[in-house]
Amino acid sequence: MHGFQRKGGKLFAEGVSLDGLADRYGTPLYVYSAGTIVDHYRRLRGVLRAVNPLICYSVKANSNLAILSILSRLGSGFDVVSGGELERVRKVGGKMDRCVFAGVGKTREEIELGLRFGVKAFHVESEEELEQIAAVAGRKKGRHAPIALRVNPDVEAGGHAKITTGTYANKFGIPYELVAAAYRRAGADPRLHLRGIQMHIGSQITRVEPFRAAVRKMIPLVERLRDRHGLEYFDVGGGLGIVYEDALASGRDGWWKTLRSEKAMTLNEYATSLVPMLRDLKMDILLEPGRFLVGNAGVLVSEVLYRKSTGQKYFTIVDAGMNDLVRPALYEAYHQIEPVGKPRPGAIPTDVVGPVCESGDVFCHDRSLPPLERGDRVAILSAGAYGFSMSSNYNTRPRPAEVLVTGSRARVVRARERVAGLWQGERK
Ligand SMILES: Cc1ncc(COP(=O)(O)O)c(C=O)c1O
Repeated sequence: MHGFQRKGGKLFAEGVSLDGLADRYGTPLYVYSAGTIVDHYRRLRGVLRAVNPLICYSVKANSNLAILSILSRLGSGFDVVSGGELERVRKVGGKMDRCVFAGVGKTREEIELGLRFGVKAFHVESEEELEQIAAVAGRKKGRHAPIALRVNPDVEAGGHAKITTGTYANKFGIPYELVAAAYRRAGADPRLHLRGIQMHIGSQITRVEPFRAAVRKMIPLVERLRDRHGLEYFDVGGGLGIVYEDALASGRDGWWKTLRSEKAMTLNEYATSLVPMLRDLKMDILLEPGRFLVGNAGVLVSEVLYRKSTGQKYFTIVDAGMNDLVRPALYEAYHQIEPVGKPRPGAIPTDVVGPVCESGDVFCHDRSLPPLERGDRVAILSAGAYGFSMSSNYNTRPRPAEVLVTGSRARVVRARERVAGLWQGERK
């Protein structure tokens, strides 16, 4: 299933026209396809069924309550990185004993919250954090803090430097060589309950080799620590990449098409390379996908405001900006851009830019797009992950509304912000 496709030349989210949604709710507008999220969750569980994984959706990718609710109903666990994310999961009735609490800088208050809510485990990223968690747990008589250490396996995952996490140049995890000693110390502490071990090597990984290399490197360590400390689970993290080019449906498996520069791994390749190694461990297997579940389940619909030419460049100025979707400005990320209406014949190279006062507020450079006119809408595809969740009010811009489509039904799952609300809490 792919939630976004053309019908009679016009773009639809499942059974609902994007132009119709923009008429009703205005632009910029995030639109999500519920069916796509369900489908991606089931596909992932399906290919990994031999290890019966607990999928812990990485909330940071998109933390809207409606999306958390869909995943919670499917039985998903959650990977959270703040007290706020944990509260969101609780708000939708997500099971706390399926939540793992990650992040390099958990505060004392957040640790207390995690303990009080009864998370499955804290994923610990430094020895000092381990001490802090033990100290917080120790203040409550008889309380043990469940923990797993995040191992930095020092494996290059490729991709953009800002989303690589698994090398010693990154702040994440505990270096591979130091992990066994850290478990020994933690194991001697009665305030801690050692439950598992975790890794996460990066995001938007489209080749299977980095996953295979990291898991292969981890296996002997995991086995040793499993036997020594009775660890129950191995969490292989998230990072599964998606296709950002040709992201529009074109046949049953449309979204697994070939990238321009490299061949994206298929879900089957991911599974067949990891499952045999993981199955032999005889442990619970956890996974923390974010982007894979929601990335291609969302688009950002925006209206063309103006066009202009400098003689050197042709610009199409739209009403969405980098504050609404920061990935192109932050990571030089590619997002396919499609006219929402029936594309006009022809193609013009254009920069699609937002209204924010930054030269970096650009969604694409010299992209060949069908001619667009004022008032036309465009859909910026694959915006479901790290779109709204990374948005801001920069330039005092209210953030867009979010709409969830399920079949032929659409409902607003977050109202558009109002300008007057933006200075609430400020004082003259
Ligand atoms: C620890 C951890 N787990 C999971 C994820 C989710 O990554 P992705 O959305 O690429 O699957 C991240 C994001 O970078 C992460 O830092």
